[in-house]
Amino acid sequence: MPRLNNEDWRAAARAALPRFVFDYVDAAADEGLCLQRNRDDLDRVILTPRVLRDVSRLETGIEVFGRRWAQPFGIAPMGLNGLSWPRGDEVLARAAAAHGVPFALSTASNARLEDLRAQAASGIHWMQLYVMHRGLAEGLVERAARAGYEALVLTVDVPVSGNRERDVRNGFRVPFKPTARFLFDVARHPRWAWRMARAGRLDFANLRVEDAPGADSASLQAALLTRAMDRSLTWESLSWLRRLWKGPLLLKGVLHPDDARRALDCGADGLIVSN
Ligand SMILES: Cc1cc2nc3c(=O)[nH]c(=O)nc-3n(C[C@H](O)[C@H](O)[C@H](O)COP(=O)(O)O)c2cc1C
Repeated sequence: MPRLNNEDWRAAARAALPRFVFDYVDAAADEGLCLQRNRDDLDRVILTPRVLRDVSRLETGIEVFGRRWAQPFGIAPMGLNGLSWPRGDEVLARAAAAHGVPFALSTASNARLEDLRAQAASGIHWMQLYVMHRGLAEGLVERAARAGYEALVLTVDVPVSGNRERDVRNGFRVPFKPTARFLFDVARHPRWAWRMARAGRLDFANLRVEDAPGADSASLQAALLTRAMDRSLTWESLSWLRRLWKGPLLLKGVLHPDDARRALDCGADGLIVSN
């Protein structure tokens, strides 16, 4: 069957992935109201085409922070891409580079930020930052600058984690204890299980023990999975980040116009409007 639209790809993913992985990617918080409203808003956008214009040459590219993008969008940061496909971060980064669009690497990626840059060096790479702990964040920012990431995206809308009901129902949480339902789920997707087994252990590769001397790896990784963020982060804290990161700095998750103005006053170079 040809895959012609998002729904076709969604159905293919549902068939190929265990339920807990599909739901992790597909679901939203609580009853999914916000997701549904976003969908409805997009569906309400209607374009009225104008006719008889010369469209023999089309140009969809834009310039952002001095770089040419072939399309006016990029790949948003997603944690745990390696769960959907082995080396999922690298696969997405290579695809983005091949199509001339940016790729944002999540703090919660399965690829180590330095390795990803080395493997897809020609691409436009942004680094997304979760601040769980200031010292850790400083380390990540310095590493991202050294590795050549072009922009830093600070995600500001997750001081507490969303209540992802489908993850809870699937038992996909910390501490992880495989239930019978989970094992059955995996057993029904042997091809996925085989791919994962061959790919080896999955971890949050940016946060290993060597990155946070004195911390123990298991608790660092659990903190990231539960998005245990530094809840004391405020506008005042932004100057700390602004001093550390010299390149373009974006805030992701801004919705209120006053927050947007304040972000620019605090030295942010861009916003990602997102909920
Ligand atoms: C599976 C999954 C993982 C995500 N992980 C992250 C993440 O690690 N960091 C982040 O800033 N946003 C993360 N997001 C949010 C996306 O970057 C994006 O904001 C979201 O899909 C909504 O799209 P929109 O911002 O275009 O509205 C994740 C989204 C999904 C679906």
